[in-house]
Amino acid sequence: MNRTKKRYNRISGVYDCLQWPVETLFSKWRKKLLKEASGETLEVGIGTGKNIPYYPEGVVLTGIDLSENMINKAHKRSNKSSIPAHLRVMDAQHLQFGDNSFDTVVTSFVFCTVPDPVQGLQEIMRVCRNDGKILMMEHVRSDHKVMGRIMDVLNPVSRSILGDNMNRRMYLNMLEAGFKEENIEVENFWFDIVRHFRIRNIKHDI
Ligand SMILES: C[S@@+](CC[C@H](N)C(=O)[O-])C[C@H]1O[C@@H](n2cnc3c(N)ncnc32)[C@H](O)[C@@H]1O
Repeated sequence: MNRTKKRYNRISGVYDCLQWPVETLFSKWRKKLLKEASGETLEVGIGTGKNIPYYPEGVVLTGIDLSENMINKAHKRSNKSSIPAHLRVMDAQHLQFGDNSFDTVVTSFVFCTVPDPVQGLQEIMRVCRNDGKILMMEHVRSDHKVMGRIMDVLNPVSRSILGDNMNRRMYLNMLEAGFKEENIEVENFWFDIVRHFRIRNIKHDI
């Protein structure tokens, strides 16, 4: 995890430039997902704050990220926006918030680097209120037989060079974390590799 932190601290200055070629597509998908956010909202792995311009008015935003340099970039973006964000350095696997603190939790392109995705998802479930919304845009392993296999083969390379797991099975991770199938809605973009997940956070023990 320290490697991830160091990597993002190092690339924070050029992150937006590196992303620029794909951002035309991503920005449309960000906009579509984020218009559903409402109330007290937590963004996990906020990075340089690329989602900030797409939050609807009225959202009260808290953002966390492992990398302090990425957070500093997000601060600048937040200062120029009508959505002020409270930003903190924190690990997605150990969220320092009480149970049921947020109406909405958002992630985008974060879970490919979280070491234990199930633990991260359980933390999100805990801090999101009962019947709250969890909105995620993540890249995942393709269900296509050949493409999925190629992603498995390339994953060790991608993980060692970029620290990025390209073959995460997020849907299965969600079920393992305790979310129920009937509360997870999946929408595919860019084949079935980039996906929106909308989860209704029904807490069964309440
Ligand atoms: C690919 S960037 C995505 C940034 C932003 N969400 C976006 O859509 O542009 C991944 C971000 O997740 C953060 N991150 C990775 N692992 C994390 C963890 N365990 N806890 C919190 N943030 C993490 C990184 O520091 C980085 O800023």
